[in-house]
Amino acid sequence: MIMTKFIKIEDVLSGETKGKVHLRGWIYRKRDQKDLVFIILRDSTGLVQLTCKGLDEAKKATIESSVEISGEIKKDSRAPGGYEIQVDDFKIIGLSERFPITKDQSEEFLRDMKHLWVRSRKMTAILKIRSEVFKAIHDFSRSKEFVEVQPPILTTSSCEGGAQQFKVEFPGKEVYLSESWQLYGEAMITSHEKIYTVIPAFRAEKSRTIRHLAEYWTAEWEWAWGTHDDMMKFEEDLIVYVIKHVLKHCEKELKELGRDLSELRSIKKPFLRITYKEAMKKLEKPQDHDITDKEERELIKKLGSKPVFLTHFPRKLKAFYMLPSKDPKVVEASDLLVPGVGEITGGSARIHDLKQLKEAMKLFKLDPKDYEWYIDLRRYGTVPHVGFGLGIERLVMWISGAKHVMDTIPFPRTMDRVYP
Ligand code: 4AD
Repeated sequence: MIMTKFIKIEDVLSGETKGKVHLRGWIYRKRDQKDLVFIILRDSTGLVQLTCKGLDEAKKATIESSVEISGEIKKDSRAPGGYEIQVDDFKIIGLSERFPITKDQSEEFLRDMKHLWVRSRKMTAILKIRSEVFKAIHDFSRSKEFVEVQPPILTTSSCEGGAQQFKVEFPGKEVYLSESWQLYGEAMITSHEKIYTVIPAFRAEKSRTIRHLAEYWTAEWEWAWGTHDDMMKFEEDLIVYVIKHVLKHCEKELKELGRDLSELRSIKKPFLRITYKEAMKKLEKPQDHDITDKEERELIKKLGSKPVFLTHFPRKLKAFYMLPSKDPKVVEASDLLVPGVGEITGGSARIHDLKQLKEAMKLFKLDPKDYEWYIDLRRYGTVPHVGFGLGIERLVMWISGAKHVMDTIPFPRTMDRVYP
């Protein structure tokens, strides 16, 4: 039996394939003209025009039907992409019912239809960028000799205060979904020293904003002997690497999304750094004011619309484990803020001294009984260490120019949405 060799649309548009070809995909647009049918065919790599003359199956085919076709490639400057296929064989594989998504529908409707909307050009482009972001994170981490380790997702201890944790039904025990791997990461640095992970994280977020999900993906790093300054330098290198990688592998997708490439190309290290105290002066707020999403974006604008590290937060605004600075009212912590989104990473040096950790728990009104194993880490060969977490959807939001974090993940979960 001779197997048909199907090529991809990008092979047609490259100009390097000639003659008779076989393609398969979905009908993106269709226009009838008497005996002639013009179709735009879509596959994972792009769009190409088909001209179908005297083919009944082509007449029957509806928008989003899946099809297999054979035909001759012709150069045609009027066709999108500069080439078209003159079709001589047209086979419908799955005739589509009337497709519910048409032009100009609301964002809410499109999110209700996400199982069908994921095939849109916009989502296809964003999800390709997302995939390359994951690849770049792994490649970069490994090139810096970080070892990937997996923490548990079911946990009994809270990392970021607990108020936002989802409780799960677990016979006889109080168990939650993990909001960060950090506490486990801190345990694991005594083995491989430099470690990272890429995992889902869960937060029962009260905030209904353009950048909050209830289930999101996070990459987190933790390493022994590191300082706060080492951490910020690592973050700069990471972000510059990821952006370069995406520009190299997704230029087509970024252009299709209308993203301003010059902004991405201009991202260079070192990034700006501003202390929380200076930032509050710029925003004309009291020093211990808890900065909001909107204020973060306002601050970035004031500082020239470039990535900026916001450093040395008031201790009381942050988590118990963060190392107090020379001025003990602030901590050795920083968030990286980027235009259009605000915070995309959060990290800090950790308290590694046993006595200081116990005092911090008292200050934050935490019961040491809930953290026995974590306190143990300060008893058996404790070392200075740092770590941070990166919200992958927020990074993709910035790079792709998406207006809402829900559009950067195939099936978003928020406090209002767990369907489809
Ligand atoms: O700043 P956060 O809360 O830091 C931590 O959880 C640390 N324990 C991480 C660490 O040091 N290993 O969260 C880290 C990042 C944020 O900067 C943000 O990008 C993302 O996770 N994030 C969210 N992304 C989407 N939806 C949410 N609800 C998010 N909450 C945090």
